[in-house]
Amino acid sequence: MTLTVSFRKTPKTGMAAAIATVRKDRLSPQADILDKDTGGLLRHVLKNQKIFTGKPGQVLSITAPKDSAYRRIVLLGLGEDDTPAAFETAGGKLAGALKGTGIDSAVLFAPDAVAGAHLALGFKLRGYEFLKYKSPPGKDAPPVIRLERLDVVTPDSAKAARLFEPLDAAADGVLFARDLVNEPPNELYPESFAERLKSELQPLGVEVEIIDERKMQKLGFGAHLAVGKGSERPPRVVILRWRGKKAKKPAAFVGKGITFDTGGISIKPAAQMDEMKMDMGGAAAVAGLMRSLAARKAKADVVGVVALAENMPSGAAYRPGDILKSFSGKTIEVLNTDAEGRLVLCDALSYVQKTYDPAVVVDLATLTGAIMVALGHEYCGVFVNDDAVWDGMNKAAKESGEKLWRMPLDEAYRKEMESGVADLKNLGSLGRYGGACSAAGFLEHFIDKGRPWAHMDIAGTAWVNSDRPLGPKHATGFGVRVLDRLVADLYEG
Ligand code: BES
Ligand code: MN
Ligand code: ZN
Repeated sequence: MTLTVSFRKTPKTGMAAAIATVRKDRLSPQADILDKDTGGLLRHVLKNQKIFTGKPGQVLSITAPKDSAYRRIVLLGLGEDDTPAAFETAGGKLAGALKGTGIDSAVLFAPDAVAGAHLALGFKLRGYEFLKYKSPPGKDAPPVIRLERLDVVTPDSAKAARLFEPLDAAADGVLFARDLVNEPPNELYPESFAERLKSELQPLGVEVEIIDERKMQKLGFGAHLAVGKGSERPPRVVILRWRGKKAKKPAAFVGKGITFDTGGISIKPAAQMDEMKMDMGGAAAVAGLMRSLAARKAKADVVGVVALAENMPSGAAYRPGDILKSFSGKTIEVLNTDAEGRLVLCDALSYVQKTYDPAVVVDLATLTGAIMVALGHEYCGVFVNDDAVWDGMNKAAKESGEKLWRMPLDEAYRKEMESGVADLKNLGSLGRYGGACSAAGFLEHFIDKGRPWAHMDIAGTAWVNSDRPLGPKHATGFGVRVLDRLVADLYEG
């Protein structure tokens, strides 16, 4: 069941809760009406407590009096901050506070159109839940009541609805990416991932081409195929294309799609290995981006490449010591089978440049634990060889609220990845030190001279273990919103 959001000038009857916004310590005009309707209850409650100060995202929920049209009345703080991000956070915190309280519908009185649209976006993102594999409660258990309907009431409701349209498209892309990442690895593997993209994106007008194992062999995806060899589930590459306009060169997005990363023969420790189902977060973000571009009929020409494999240990698995021949022709010495992401990415990067000659290539990958050591879960590290692309990304990051931090590309990191027995090796000489930078240095060997390129290491941002203002714990769908903005700012019109 998904949340239905609508915008209206006046409230409809039959809603479970009324949400009145409060700017700092002032009741908004609608809150004032609710106050009068309840014989001054809101003012009374506000006066007799010290906790609710109306700061952004603060929630005070009270039981409505028995003759009220609502069951609950909720005060939502908006502070004095008029930025979209502040409204989104407040909307998200509201959804978080309403979850599990038995409220299924709410009318939110917003001060204006901008606030209304962004409050609704935050509410939708935070209201997401992944319950596909939970059985419904038994006959005698209480029913599970979820938020199903949000009506945003604001004087300029038509403008709010118009503002919400592209935000809603991006949110649908985010939720699609989260759904993919939250899927268990026995259900989502290269083949089923590819089929899912076909069945969900093709109807929206996205062209979907699935390159199977045989075709990959023919084309020479030697590095990618090696990573998939240990698994019973053969690898796939999926090419997605959204042609919203005629352009000389498309923009290209490439995602790492390891549906499960055991580490392979260089096997990972058992603790938290289950989380390695999220190692396809880059692929999911590319899929989510394509979905949002299609949903809002973006006037852009965009190619998405999803590089899928499962990294397993077995008698057929690739080994440390193997020397692989990549799509580019460069040979790679394998020193650690757990550094597999760069191996699937290098072939996808070479292929997309050769086939589409893109104006820009952006890859997203849950590539290194080292980026988490550097930036935690807050910032995504971006390695980019072009200042104009970085400026665009930095601006899109500020607009979307998805935080990016520029990291260094350097000749020294590239050199670190050169091997004595092959052209390259998949593990740097400095071990864990600078691991995110040497991984980027490896990828840079596969980028054409003069090709604008950005590598986003989303290992820390694709998956979190605590609830956030804009989403519950686990899959975040990170990357969809910032790249949707980037496409809108740089490649449309
Ligand atoms: N998928 C992992 C990176 C990762 C770690 C993502 C934790 C999310 C959370 C990647 O394939 C990996 O194993 N990287 C190794 C690289 C090393 C062997 C050079 C790492 O970071 O330890
Ligand atoms: Mn790995
Ligand atoms: Zn991995």
